[in-house]
Amino acid sequence: MARITASVYTSHVPAIGAAMDLGKTAEPYWQPVFAGYEFGRQWLKDNKPDAIFLVFNDHATAFSLEMIPTFAIGTAAEYAVADEGWGPRPVPKVIGHPELASHIAQSVIQDDFDLTIVNKMDVDHGLTVPLSLMCGEQDPVKGAWPCPVIPFAVNVVQYPVPSGRRCFNLGRAIRKAVESFDQDLNVQIWGTGGMSHQLQGARAGLINKAWDNRFLDRLISEPEALAQVPHIEYVREAGSEGIELVMWLIARGAMSDAPPTVKHRFYHVPASNTAVGHLILENN
Ligand code: DHB
Ligand code: FE
Repeated sequence: MARITASVYTSHVPAIGAAMDLGKTAEPYWQPVFAGYEFGRQWLKDNKPDAIFLVFNDHATAFSLEMIPTFAIGTAAEYAVADEGWGPRPVPKVIGHPELASHIAQSVIQDDFDLTIVNKMDVDHGLTVPLSLMCGEQDPVKGAWPCPVIPFAVNVVQYPVPSGRRCFNLGRAIRKAVESFDQDLNVQIWGTGGMSHQLQGARAGLINKAWDNRFLDRLISEPEALAQVPHIEYVREAGSEGIELVMWLIARGAMSDAPPTVKHRFYHVPASNTAVGHLILENN
């Protein structure tokens, strides 16, 4: 049987991808950000999964305002890297896992979550920056990400967005789906986006370190209670784009009910307009 062994949480700031692509990671501004991922890169090498279920948000790249699925599961064999306006990032294409993704779609939809099935999708910084942070630089042609990835897109861009509670319960349904797949696979689930940031309007530049750190504490120790926080509190306390954090609750909901082991915790400001948060939790 397949099982979820660990969850990884990380911000997806696009400027981090640009810093890697342009060879700026050693600059004083970026060095402390990348230092926070050294542990995770080694950990991922030592704990290479057979597949990553990667919860992310598209930024009006694959989905425009013409079509806005709340939850979309990628069942394709591969995904191209999107052109977000400056050409596609020079990173490898993403190889999918159609068999496991189709099984999860079947199980989760029969468990009453209405997923959109996506057989073709380009993936933007929401997916590629977390992979780059955790895997390091990869040659776009000769290189490859360490394993197949199932992209799972959540709408946190256009209102209305899903509640934290629904995200957490969806995570539980994903856990059940993975555990009923009859191949012996080691699966990681990643929750991405966040932490506090607001890119627009009068409060542009908002960062809330105290709220972010409390979110990390509660994500570790009382995720079910954290899942009750209404979306408006994310917007008020963590900024309009801080709502991306509800995606972390999907990954946390997919973990075992027993307390996880905290392998790594990192928080840093600034990185572009966003507070960077990163956690690695292992199942017991
Ligand atoms: C930034 C952060 C994001 O999450 C995003 O999608 C775009 C930009 C930023 O901090 O600049
Ligand atoms: Fe974003």
